[in-house]
Amino acid sequence: MPIRTIVTELLEIEHPVLLAPMAGVAGGALAAAVSNAGGLGIIGGGYGDRDWLTRELAAAGNARVGVGFIGWSLDRQPELLDLALEHAPRALFLSFGTFRQYADKIARSPAKMIVQVQSVAQACEAVADGAEIVVAQGTEAGGHGSSRATLPLVPALVDAIGDVPVIAAGGIADGRGLAAALMLGASAVLCGTAFFASREALSHPNAKQAAVTGSGDNTQRSSVFDIARGIDWPAQWNLRTLRNRYSEQWVGDTETLRQQGAQEKMRYAQAAEAGDTDVAAVIVGEGVDMVRSSEPAAEIVGRIVSDAERLLGNANRFLIPTGSSSGGTLRARPGGPP
Ligand SMILES: Cc1cc2nc3c(=O)[nH]c(=O)nc-3n(C[C@H](O)[C@H](O)[C@H](O)COP(=O)(O)O)c2cc1C
Repeated sequence: MPIRTIVTELLEIEHPVLLAPMAGVAGGALAAAVSNAGGLGIIGGGYGDRDWLTRELAAAGNARVGVGFIGWSLDRQPELLDLALEHAPRALFLSFGTFRQYADKIARSPAKMIVQVQSVAQACEAVADGAEIVVAQGTEAGGHGSSRATLPLVPALVDAIGDVPVIAAGGIADGRGLAAALMLGASAVLCGTAFFASREALSHPNAKQAAVTGSGDNTQRSSVFDIARGIDWPAQWNLRTLRNRYSEQWVGDTETLRQQGAQEKMRYAQAAEAGDTDVAAVIVGEGVDMVRSSEPAAEIVGRIVSDAERLLGNANRFLIPTGSSSGGTLRARPGGPP
């Protein structure tokens, strides 16, 4: 039975699965593949590169996709919002900043305004600023984020922001995660790590391979790679990646790394270009345990959805009636499902 929610209605999509706008990874082909599979693909506009964005919007073809931006960086070149809106995206996805200044423009377009947050306070602010859908991003997420965990953050947002739909993100990479997120009150999931190694992703092949063999045990939040890349991220957000030789070398001494700025920036850029994953970051989250091959994105969407449908269809296996009358109460089956 298909899963229909307020988010599938609002975004006019078949399945409650959104591709995260992963900077440099979620290009037009990946976003289109997810949208064509019935979810919503969101192009990772990231820090804002007009040529890259123009190319990737074209690569999405006729698929209805969304576009995402990193807020504090969009503030430096707000005209990129106009470029995105010219392509009639289904959604504008904004993270890591404040967004009241963009709300009127987005409201005048057919695009829905989705804001990703990491706390209850930010969620209330996002709603006051005009967000139509709010993404609760837990610390398990790959990429930039903060410290609260997905499991308690999602219901906290659902309770705090009332009628505004909540999407769960962070550590959700299969049908079990989607089913659990719906139980927490979310109306959809946003997945990045699950698609990092997908065929259509723009990640370097070596980085895809590192993800496929990587473990959630081996991820870490730090500022090492932002310092190495010379990106001046606000201190409230840091980056979850796989640990590697480079992060092990610098994580305890970021001050020295900062002092070696120019030299390390060049070294890092060369490593990223060459796919040297001992130095360059493999940006995935704790859900990487569930990424075990490089597959077409449509297969990932299909599996997440069909597994969640099956699990939700069988959910009453956890419950056994007590008492003899039909009005008997239900209690959890000891030891879980048979
Ligand atoms: C490689 C990568 C790049 C990301 N880049 C961005 C980005 O540019 N903008 C953004 O809002 N979120 C970005 N994120 C975070 C996602 O929006 C999302 O919160 C996260 O992927 C969800 O957790 P998951 O990775 O466990 O699925 C990125 C995530 C990954 C894995």
